[in-house]
Amino acid sequence: MVTLSQPLKTTVVIAIFFISTITLQAQNGEQIFKNSCAACHTVGGGKRVGPDLVGMSTKRSEAWLIKWIKSSQTLIESGDPDAIAAFEAYNKVPMPDQNLSDVEIKEVIDYINTKSSAAEVPVAATAAISEPQEPIKSSDIASEEEILLGQHIFEGNKRLANGGAACIFCHNLNTDRIIPGGLLAKDLTTVYTRMGGDAGLTGILNAPPFPAMTEAYKNKPMTESEIYAVVSFLNKVEKESTTQTATATNPLLKYGFIGFAMWVGIVFLVWFRRKKYAVNKRIFERQVKSY
Ligand code: HEC
Ligand code: HEC
Repeated sequence: MVTLSQPLKTTVVIAIFFISTITLQAQNGEQIFKNSCAACHTVGGGKRVGPDLVGMSTKRSEAWLIKWIKSSQTLIESGDPDAIAAFEAYNKVPMPDQNLSDVEIKEVIDYINTKSSAAEVPVAATAAISEPQEPIKSSDIASEEEILLGQHIFEGNKRLANGGAACIFCHNLNTDRIIPGGLLAKDLTTVYTRMGGDAGLTGILNAPPFPAMTEAYKNKPMTESEIYAVVSFLNKVEKESTTQTATATNPLLKYGFIGFAMWVGIVFLVWFRRKKYAVNKRIFERQVKSY
């Protein structure tokens, strides 16, 4: 009979914990793809924020793919013509660096290859084979209510069903609708177009590919209707921002200037009126009238 002392028990628990995380790390290519790539790419399902990766290995070597996936910007800066062409074809939306090992990248590539050969069947057949992919509802037809729900979710006035953080915590929007938000992450005023519209944003919110955001929504996924509301809100804000102001000026600078102009105007008016209608004259007129 072996009885473990308390410190030994703790050690065993910690050891089990580490072993289990190591096995978790050795996730297969499909899992890595779902977690890190599916927000922006499909294999045979059409383009999203980035290109459809079907048949990618027939176009690019494995070594190239590893370099690209680790840091596309480094590869572009090195002057690689294929990298530059890919970047320019996608409106210079940079693909974020993926914190994956060579082994993990090879697993993803294997997964993309397997899925590609399955996808290379006549189009009519693919539709049935590929996992049911519901068409994404266009946010252009969102109701005012849905847009407002999106605004409340963004601001944190409406809690997310699964308890995820409010966007305003980390992101700013240049709009009169809400107060300025966090500066931890990018400003989202024009993200709707930048990140591929409904398909791109829905993908990103389903499985956020950015580490800080992944953490914030891990085990707290947004529901389909919450995502739709937020995407509709961001679509609306972008449309309003392009009609409101042609140039994206710093809001503080803008309001500061407007405030200053109003102040000068008031001072000027007061001063102007005083000059024109001297107090004495008014009193005099009133007294004249009252007779
Ligand atoms: C936030 C969105 C995003 C994520 C996440 C993302 N990509 Fe990309 N990817 C892009 C964009 C956008 C491009 C197009 C090139 C560009 O604009 O830099 C691209 C391009 C590529 C290309 C090059 C295509 C070509 O024409 O040569 C490959 C390969 C690729 N991605 C693989 C992956 C893999 C594998 C993952 C996951 C480990 C991944 N990407 C994650 C956005 C993303
Ligand atoms: C804990 C902080 C945090 C929260 C909360 C958060 N994000 Fe993010 N988000 C990030 C970070 C970090 C990035 C990575 C890129 C960057 O720095 O902007 C990002 C990137 C994005 C991008 C891509 C931006 C781009 O142009 O590359 C979108 C879209 C986005 N977030 C939407 C949202 C929405 C919508 C919510 C609320 C439902 C939200 N985020 C909540 C931290 C957060």
